[in-house]
Amino acid sequence: MIDTIDNYIKEIESFNSNNKDEIEQFRIKFLSKKGIIPDLFNQLKNIPPEDKKAYGQKINILKNKALDRIKILKAQSESRQEESLINDLTLPPEPIPVGSRHPVSIVRNEIINIFSKIGFVVAEGPEIEDDWHVFSGLNFPDEHPARDMQDTFFIEKDPDVLLRTHTSSVQIRVMENEKPPIRKVFPGRVFRNEVISARAHCIFHQVEGLYIDKNVSFADLKQTLLFFAKEMFGENTQIRLRPAFFPFTEPSAEMDVSCTLCGGKGCNICKYSGFVEILGCGMVDPNVLESSNISSVEYTGFAFGMGIERVAMLKYHINDLRLFFENDVRFLNQFKGDVT
Ligand code: DAH
Repeated sequence: MIDTIDNYIKEIESFNSNNKDEIEQFRIKFLSKKGIIPDLFNQLKNIPPEDKKAYGQKINILKNKALDRIKILKAQSESRQEESLINDLTLPPEPIPVGSRHPVSIVRNEIINIFSKIGFVVAEGPEIEDDWHVFSGLNFPDEHPARDMQDTFFIEKDPDVLLRTHTSSVQIRVMENEKPPIRKVFPGRVFRNEVISARAHCIFHQVEGLYIDKNVSFADLKQTLLFFAKEMFGENTQIRLRPAFFPFTEPSAEMDVSCTLCGGKGCNICKYSGFVEILGCGMVDPNVLESSNISSVEYTGFAFGMGIERVAMLKYHINDLRLFFENDVRFLNQFKGDVT
C-alpha cells in the first residue's frame, strides 16, 4: 500500500495543466468524497494497529501534496487568464472619465472674450485688501451709510485688513499705476458676510469693467453694455437702465436685460416684469479719478460690475446659487459640452 501511495505522490507532482476543467477533474479524482484520498483513509481500518501511524502520516502527506498542487495550478491558470486579457488588444478600452469646466469658469471666460472683442484686457488684484481700495478710494466717506450696503469680513479685527467685497477695488489699483487710456476688465472672487441661501452666498465672483479716456460718455457705456448683452444672451436681447446710487459712479444705473426665459413676455423668473437685473454701472465719479491722480477735467470714464453666478443663472436657468459651490458632479457634468 505504501508503494501505491508513493505512486500517487509521483502522479500528483508530475500533474500539470492550465486548464480549469482538467484541474477540477484532478481535484475530484483525489479529493472528492469518493476520491482516492478519502478512500485511502477509509482503508486505514484494515491496517494492523502497529502500522496505522505510518500509513496515516503517509496519506496525510499525499493529501497535502494534492491540496498544494491544486492551489498552485489554479493560481497559475488565473494569472495566465489575466495576462491574456491584458494582451488582448481587440478589447474595448476602459472609458476615461473626462471632467468638465465649472459653469462659473465657462461664464467668466465668455464675459472676458466678449469684452476682449472691443479692446478690454484683463487685470487682477488681491482678494485680501485694505480699506482704501475697497471703500475710501471709491468715494465711500468714513461714516457714509453706503459702507453698510456690504457686510464685510475683517481680518483679525484690524479694520484696515479685509476681504474685498467687490472687484471695484481693482479699479483703484489700476488707476494708481496706469495713465489713461485704460480699458480693462477685472474678474475675481469677492466675499460678503451674508447668510447663505438660494440667492446669496458669502463667496461669489464678479467681473468689473473700467474705461477711462478723453470724451468717454454715457452713450459709450450704454452701447458697450448693449453689445455685451446681445453677445451673451442673444441678438434679440434688450437692455433697460434704471437710475441707481453707487458712491463711485455719478450718474449711476442698474441694468436689466430682457428675461432670458420668457424673452420679455413675463414669467416667474422675471417676476412677470419681462426684465431681470444683471449689473451696476455709471460714469466714474470725478472724486474717484482725482483721488487716483487722474485729472477729471481731462478725462472721463465709465465702470460697471456684474456677478458671474448671476449671469450664469440667467444663461443656464439655474435657480439656486448654492449649486455653484457644492461641486455635485451630477450638476457639473451638465456643462461638459461648454468648453470656452
Ligand atoms: N461694486 C458694485 C457691487 O458690488 C457693482 C458696481 C456698481 C460696479 C456700479 C461698478 C459700478 O463699477 O459702476 O455691487
